Parts: sequence; C-alpha cells; structure tokens
Amino acid sequence: MEALILACADRLVQNLKKKAQGDEDIDIKRMFDPYTMDVIASTSFGLHLDAQGNPNHPFIKNAKELMEPSLHSPVILILLFFPYLMKFLKPVFVFFNVTFVRTMNFFVNILDQLEKERALNPSEKNYADLVQLLLNSHNMSIQKSELSEDEQEVGKWKKKALTRAEMAANEILFLVAGYDTTSLTLTFASYFLATHPHVQDKLRSEIDKQLQGSDPTYESVKNLGYLEQVILETLRLYPPGVRVDRVATEDVVVRGLKIPKGTTCVIPIKTIHRHPDYWPDPDKFDPERFTPDAIARRHQFAFLGFGMGPRNCIGMRLAKLEMKIALVKILQRFTIKTCDETPTEITTRKDKPNRPGKPIILKVEERSF
Ligand code: HEM
Repeated sequence: MEALILACADRLVQNLKKKAQGDEDIDIKRMFDPYTMDVIASTSFGLHLDAQGNPNHPFIKNAKELMEPSLHSPVILILLFFPYLMKFLKPVFVFFNVTFVRTMNFFVNILDQLEKERALNPSEKNYADLVQLLLNSHNMSIQKSELSEDEQEVGKWKKKALTRAEMAANEILFLVAGYDTTSLTLTFASYFLATHPHVQDKLRSEIDKQLQGSDPTYESVKNLGYLEQVILETLRLYPPGVRVDRVATEDVVVRGLKIPKGTTCVIPIKTIHRHPDYWPDPDKFDPERFTPDAIARRHQFAFLGFGMGPRNCIGMRLAKLEMKIALVKILQRFTIKTCDETPTEITTRKDKPNRPGKPIILKVEERSF
C-alpha cells in the first residue's frame, strides 16, 4: 500500500505548493479530507478517484453523507445513551434515514461493479486491496467434505465465507472508521506544529537527518520516533474516537463499583486523556509525554487513542503510515505557519465533540534549501 499512499501524498504536496505560491490562507482540513479519502478509496476499494482534484466525485459526496449523523439526531442520541435499544430502534432508524439507506446502496453497487469488472479481467492486474480480500472470501467455494467433522455441523461451515451484506458492511465500516479520523488527526497535528515552532523544528531535523530528502517508506518511518510522539500527543488531546463501549462478560467490581455481567460500559477516552493523575498539566501539548520511558512509567490504559485489546483499531498501522507519509512529505517541502485567521485556541463542536468548532486556518511556506 506504500506506493498507493505515496501517490496520494504527492498530490497533496502539489496542492499545498499552489497555496504556498499564492500565499493563501488554508482551511487545512479541506486539504486533508480529500487526501485521506484518496488513500481509503485506493487501499480499500481499489479506486483511484483523485478526490483532491475532483471534489465533486459521487463517491466523495456519498462518503460524506455517511459521516453526517450527528448528536443532534434524536435516534443517535438515544442509541448513544442506551445502546441496548439498537435492536428495537433499527427499523425506526432505517425508516427515517432514507438518505442513509440510499448511500449504503451506493456502496453496495460499487462492490457489485468491481466484482463484475474483475471477473471480466481476472489476470489484468494483480488486485491487492481490501475489496479483493473480501471477494476472495465471498467466493471461497467450500466443499463440505473438505471440512473437519466439527466444522461440518449445521451453521458452522457456512460461517467460513462472507455474505454479500457482510462484504458491504466491512467496506463501509473501513470508510467510516478510516477517513475522517485520519484527516482530523492530521488537521490537529498541523495546528500544533504551527503553534509550537520548536516542535516543528525538532521534527523536521529528525526527518532531514533520517531520510536525507528521500521519500518516506513503510520501513524508514519506523525510525522517526519523534514523529510518532507528535502524533500520539495530538491523539491524546483530540482523539477522533471520543469514547468506546464494552460489555462486561462477567460480574466485576471496579474500585468498589459492582458491574453486573452484560452491562454496557462507556469508556470516556477524551476525559481519560486529560485526567491530571496520569497527565500533569493535561491541556498542554507536549510530545515528550510519549518517549519510550514516559510510556513505560504510565498506566497502559491511560492512552486509548486507538482503543485497546482484541477489538482495538484494526486500521491503526494504515492510519499511522498515511499520517506519517503526509507529515514527512509536507515538512520536507514546507514550513507550516499560523496566520491572522488561525484560531488562538481550539474549540470543539457540541454535536460532534471530535471536530474543531471553527475551521483551522493555516499557511504553508516553501522551504529554501
Ligand atoms: C487516526 C486514525 C484513527 C483513529 C484515531 C482510530 C481510532 C479507533 C478507535 C478508538 C477504535 C475503537 C477501538 C476499541 O473499541 O478498542 C477504532 C476501531 C476501528 N477502526 Fe480505527 N482509527 C483510525 C483509523 C482507522 C483506519 C484508517 C481504519 C481502516 C482503514 C480504521 C478501522 C477501524 C475499524 C474497522 C474499527 C473497528 C474494530 C473492531 O471493532 O474490531 N481505523 N478506531
């Protein structure tokens, strides 16, 4: 996927170059949205959209629809506070969300089209993306005789292949989980780099020293420890996933509070990330909190930017790679700066607490070598 991501990052750099040459103020999220969309479309759907050059593409319009449900929607609010009502509210949700259903159908149709195209040209290209993995799994022809006796039990053997609905659900989940989260983190990270020039200088020195001007790769970004620290500290202050849920699988007592088996527990990531017991001076942006020593000294659940445990973020490595490639390519060419329109502090939206309340406006300046 490295080459696919690099191609998207090259387009990002070209677009930033135009902004730098025109000395323009930049609503920075508007630059990162199409970048992360291009990455997800190419790595998950096998589609080369160029969202950065073609913002009105129907794929982008439909993907944005998916992100729209907000905390102002009464159905979403009820589900957030009473998740166990999902099974009763599902039909209501579908009934009142015609646009949502139409959007879902759009993505199901894309899968159908891709399947047809690939069936017609099976050897044309070596398809190595999520769609192909899903198609392979869907098409897996399972002979009952190939399975062990245990697997042949009714209901069990069928689970080996994905149904069409499961394929579509997985594609849509990757899109919803992977597009805005990554774009938001890049947006906040750019803000912090612009408002903390000493951090930006330190990061640029690391990049220049390690990569000597060459393109970042999956292997080379692993040596950029300070870049990892900057990303983790950004995620601590502004985690795109503000909370996760877990269901207790057994009766348990946590600090004197009895949690019966089956209880849905809400884990408030954003609040934990600013808890002064774990994070002294919690509102301060300080990447030094994530040196290997500092991490080892802290409770491992104090940082939950990508969740934790067997159901943590499956896209973490892809997200980190695409964020690192973008930031490296940007800092190799530009200095990120504040301008008159840059907010003095970040506020977040009440209905979508992971998003900035006001656009984050910045400038980029081409580096002189
Ligand atoms: C900065 C970027 C990202 C952040 C901060 C993030 C954060 C998270 C968090 C907090 C969870 C919940 C984990 C838990 O319950 O323990 C999650 C789950 C998930 N994420 Fe991400 N994510 C990011 C990018 C991505 C990307 C790029 C993809 C896919 C392309 C992705 C796919 C998923 C999926 C499929 C799940 C559900 C996993 C499961 O339930 O087993 N995420 N993510």
